[in-house]
Amino acid sequence: MDKNINFTLKVWRQNGPKAKGHFDTFEMKDIPGDTSFLEMLDILNEQLIESGNEPFVFDHDCREGICGMCSLYINGHPHGPATGATTCQLYMRRFNDGDVITVEPWRSAAFPVIKDCMVDRGAFDKIIQAGGYTTVRTGQPQDANAILIPKEAADEAMDCATCIGCGACVAACKNGSAMLFVSSKVSQLALLPQGLPEAAKRAKAMVMTMDELGFGNCTNTRACEAECPKNESIANIARLNREFISAKLAD
Ligand code: FES
Repeated sequence: MDKNINFTLKVWRQNGPKAKGHFDTFEMKDIPGDTSFLEMLDILNEQLIESGNEPFVFDHDCREGICGMCSLYINGHPHGPATGATTCQLYMRRFNDGDVITVEPWRSAAFPVIKDCMVDRGAFDKIIQAGGYTTVRTGQPQDANAILIPKEAADEAMDCATCIGCGACVAACKNGSAMLFVSSKVSQLALLPQGLPEAAKRAKAMVMTMDELGFGNCTNTRACEAECPKNESIANIARLNREFISAKLAD
């Protein structure tokens, strides 16, 4: 049975993308260790609402590490101190009695704050719209035996596809680069025969859109890889660079 803990919680409050932000500080009492981080914020919000104050705004949806919506920067780490886990998979037992826990939004020019710690990650949708898809022909389905895929390629593509697009890589990067996200999305398609018809234009279009939207460049600090809740590898970035150069040469 996990112990209950008391701690100081500092949360970022900001009314909009251009508004000036500040930290609000709360003393949290008797929070059970088996409470998830998001449930702890629910408790805070119940207290705020009961006392007639505005609740703290944060993103979440599935609460089981699948959707990529939770996006809090906790004590200097995207998704907090646990490795290979999202904020919704973080439990209060990771913290100690008397801790000061600081919660901030993803900080990136490409992810403007909507309110408090909820940011607009529509930029990722625009990158996917630029090339993160395959053309599917309608009509008779193809014989599965005609498109055999080696097990290693299928496994690697699946590893890349586990990227949930949460944006932790951008938040972790001092350059605000989205290269780990883009390279995972390019790789999951480049490794499979279904992704080959658009391969050349995909890498160029997605990289160009990423640049236009204000994401920074990759300088190989590997912070993205260290903080990714799905353990995406920066080997994907090398593959993206190869795909991009091949496309340029083909031009
Ligand atoms: S809420 Fe869906 S991954 Fe955290």
